[in-house]
Amino acid sequence: MNRARLILFKEWFETYARRFYSPDPAEQRNIYLKIEHTARVCDIIAAISRDLSLDADDMLLAESIGLFHDIGRFPQFARYKTFRDSISVNHGRLGAEVLAEEKTLQDLPEHEQEIITTAVKFHNAYTIPDLPSDDMVLFLKLVRDADKLDIWRIFTGYFEMPEEDRASEAALGLPDGPGYSEEMIAAIYRNRSASISYLRTLNDFKLMQLSWISDLNFSASFRLLQEGDYINRLISLLPDNEEIQKVSSFLRAYAAEKARLDEAG
Ligand SMILES: [Fe+2]
Repeated sequence: MNRARLILFKEWFETYARRFYSPDPAEQRNIYLKIEHTARVCDIIAAISRDLSLDADDMLLAESIGLFHDIGRFPQFARYKTFRDSISVNHGRLGAEVLAEEKTLQDLPEHEQEIITTAVKFHNAYTIPDLPSDDMVLFLKLVRDADKLDIWRIFTGYFEMPEEDRASEAALGLPDGPGYSEEMIAAIYRNRSASISYLRTLNDFKLMQLSWISDLNFSASFRLLQEGDYINRLISLLPDNEEIQKVSSFLRAYAAEKARLDEAG
């Protein structure tokens, strides 16, 4: 990887995304949401990579993964008008297919193509699958952390903006209401990502996002979590009761401990 290649990839991305622009303002907000998310994930993945002292080549590879990770979102939204994989298509897998069909990576060495494709394909998988090489695992972990950090930014920001400016799919179009699933709370205390199968309401989605904290891989990611104040901001969007306050203390203590470690263990 080199800097010139990353610039070409960025140009390719812009051209590709433009194919999906919509004359409908509500639809276009969802397209812009993903373009902006992509730029942020590139920045975050670069920041975590710097903290890990990756070499220049690997940093560029990491940024390319940030750039391509959600490429499947564009055809997904065009076909199904939703970002909910469960009612449409797995956007990670679709993204890997797009890169293959468009031959986007063809000039890269085989191993780098595999690293990028694998990271795109599994960035949204429930858990990290068995992979044939350590660097595949490393780059997959990087994009999974960067992606979550920006989803927290988008999601908390969504509630802080006027309704007419919101990209509808940022909250997956889930119904709002006072309740939530106990399975989400249980997953948090087990330090497990909550299964999407328990996702019913907007509150479940907020709790599910809190459960993702257990899935972060690097201490730099925990520090970015703290800098964004995402735990408090997500908690403030949930019902104000004792159970939720306990979840809040539990997660803040967990994040504080992980943020202090050199390498999140
Ligand atoms: Fe994604």
